[in-house]
Amino acid sequence: MKVLFIGDIVGSIGRDAVEKYLPRLKKKYAVDVVIANGENAAAGRGITRSIYNDLLQMGVDVITMGNHTWDNRDIFEFIDDADYLIRPANFSPDAPGKGMVQVSKNGVTLSVINLHGRTFLPPHDDPFAKADELVAEAKEISPLVFVDFHAEATSEKIALGWHLDGRASVVVGTHTHVQTADARIYPGGTAYITDVGMTGPYDEILGMTKENVIYRFQTQMPQRFEVPKKGRDVLSAFFVEIDDKTGKALRQERIYINADYPFQP
Ligand SMILES: [Fe+2]
Ligand SMILES: [Fe+2]
Repeated sequence: MKVLFIGDIVGSIGRDAVEKYLPRLKKKYAVDVVIANGENAAAGRGITRSIYNDLLQMGVDVITMGNHTWDNRDIFEFIDDADYLIRPANFSPDAPGKGMVQVSKNGVTLSVINLHGRTFLPPHDDPFAKADELVAEAKEISPLVFVDFHAEATSEKIALGWHLDGRASVVVGTHTHVQTADARIYPGGTAYITDVGMTGPYDEILGMTKENVIYRFQTQMPQRFEVPKKGRDVLSAFFVEIDDKTGKALRQERIYINADYPFQP
């Protein structure tokens, strides 16, 4: 199975970049399953029902979330009907939604799990313990397991990657919005990257209009961060081919497309 993961989609520029590049990427890599992080899809803050539907229409199979899951209140209206939207599994047991979903293509089933870090982030439940529990549950269904670990600290992400080596097919990090150059396959067969990076405005600061962010750093004064609607885009993604029988990663490739690194057919 060939899986493409698209990093944090930010605002309309990010959604448009998915619409523009996804058909070409699907063709180039003969992709079976597309997963995308959608926590910033609605103007940087959460996701709406119509954006969820639009992304599925564009060819995304599963959407993962993160610390911005609840930022757009629309989610409370549709999360229970959104079969292919997952939010971090180590949120409170009282939180709506779910943290794992299965998707099948050509007779092969992949489990997708979303987890949330707790270093420099709110103290959610232990993501390592939750990973152990859900990976074991997923393996009852199929050996193919994909984990999106939405976390701030590089160390926490690398730790989970090694913790799941040989048990998960893929562990990707999201949340920091900057792609790291450490993509690899661990000795046990788990493909790993510390952060896939973001998909959205290319000339701003993590997707937010740069003037406001610079002003806040200079003055330490509260500032509302805005996501621009116009400008150049970047698409950050990670491709992995997984062995259908063993669930081990066979090859991985980092994908980074923007004005400086144009799409290569
Ligand atoms: Fe994000
Ligand atoms: Fe985030």
